[in-house]
Amino acid sequence: MDFDITNFQIEQVCIDSETIRYRAYRNLSYCRKPKDPIQKMNLYVPEAYFEGKMIQGYSLKSAPIVMPNTVGGYMPGPAGEPGADNRGKPNFIFSALQHGYVVACAGVRGRSTGRKCQEFFVGGVVNQPKEEDGELCGKAPAYIVDLKAAIRYLRHNKAVVPGDTEKIFTNGTSAGGALSALAGTTGNHPDYQYYLQEIGAADEPDDVYGAICFCPIIDLEHADAAYEWQFNGLEEAHFIKFSFDESGQIHMEPEVLQMSQQQMKWSEELKAGFPDYVNSLALRDPEGAALTLDESGNGNFKDYIIKELIHSAQSEVNAACTSAQRLGWPSCDFTEVKKLPYLSWEGERITGLDWDRYIRTITRMKAVPAFDQVNLASPENDEFGTPEEPARHFTEFGLKHTIVNGTMAEEPVIKMLNPICYIQDSQATCAKHWWIRHGSNDRDTSLAIPVILELSLQNAGAEVDFKLPWGLPHSGDYDLPELFAWIDSLVDNGLS
Ligand code: DHB
Repeated sequence: MDFDITNFQIEQVCIDSETIRYRAYRNLSYCRKPKDPIQKMNLYVPEAYFEGKMIQGYSLKSAPIVMPNTVGGYMPGPAGEPGADNRGKPNFIFSALQHGYVVACAGVRGRSTGRKCQEFFVGGVVNQPKEEDGELCGKAPAYIVDLKAAIRYLRHNKAVVPGDTEKIFTNGTSAGGALSALAGTTGNHPDYQYYLQEIGAADEPDDVYGAICFCPIIDLEHADAAYEWQFNGLEEAHFIKFSFDESGQIHMEPEVLQMSQQQMKWSEELKAGFPDYVNSLALRDPEGAALTLDESGNGNFKDYIIKELIHSAQSEVNAACTSAQRLGWPSCDFTEVKKLPYLSWEGERITGLDWDRYIRTITRMKAVPAFDQVNLASPENDEFGTPEEPARHFTEFGLKHTIVNGTMAEEPVIKMLNPICYIQDSQATCAKHWWIRHGSNDRDTSLAIPVILELSLQNAGAEVDFKLPWGLPHSGDYDLPELFAWIDSLVDNGLS
């Protein structure tokens, strides 16, 4: 568990005529009693720091440490590598090193750890099939336990480890965004202590300074209700089906699922439960006004989301270049804001958004219930499994309607996977700084979910940079120059 500063390789990676040189410290054992080989960390440090140079005003000891994870779909997330993303562009790790950050990539267990698995998850890492089934040791809360252990390892070695261990920023997308949000909200909380001891984590604090969350899939106990609050009434779910052919090629095919009458009724029931939940959170907007929903699901909480969407669409109109162009994506209908029938205008100013029409245009992606499925088939059901019972329910609704005799995950385990449960808990050290993004076209979870995270954090005194970037689907690691400028503004690099 002692970090050896002399055990490294100097490496160089060149992408698009940009070159980075860095020291790679690979396969660091961040806990004394690992259960799976994935529980290792790679630490990357810009080589310039060892030549006495500075980058962005940072030095070897003052550079912030960013901790990106590669988790997708609650699958295992191996330690990341600097290189190209799936479009051939520099990935987050490459760009962060180029910008002068120390990058700590912890490999973490996931729901399929120990299982032969061919499953592929978009945005995640293809899980290599294993020779033998091992212990199913990566179910909830394993992935946050591993990230905490890695953070503790950095603090345990703070005298020698490059970077400032009090300026750690976690980053992740989707299930990985949820992981980042958990690191941000649950710092030092005793709930995780048993699991941390079990893997032999260092006895150190595990709170972080900032959390970067792209489309975090959180608040799973309420995600079904939130989904129906947004998509109730839509009879078709539109999604992309991913499959492998015999040669190992990935295929993507659009599919449409028809909701049954039963599902349409369930949707009503789930939707009806959402206002009580929102109202129980006592959310306030930045001016201090209480945000609530009435029984029918209308109210100023909804208006707040619509206002955020309008703000996002307006930014798109004012921007010199569209979100799709900015990301280098093929053009996407939604970024042609002027042609969208659900927006109303006064000249160049957007004055309204017809919510129902907007929802019908983006369409729902998931069937009912969206997360706690009655046949235990969702990634989340699998995440809440155990070695004996590979998938379980995590809502009363799912349990009540189970068609496979499913049982319920333990309440403390469900809680340990929900960042919202810890925001007001005085035993947790919450990150002071938050970067939250959820594309306006992202239908993997309801827009209400990231908004609840934003408002809960803000109401608890955290600083939150929040946007629903226009037209973007489920995705992450975009707008890195803006993100890095935000990080730099929070860390005194002597330049400002
Ligand atoms: C992810 C996406 C989902 O729709 C989901 O339910 C869980 C995880 C993901 O991309 O990580």
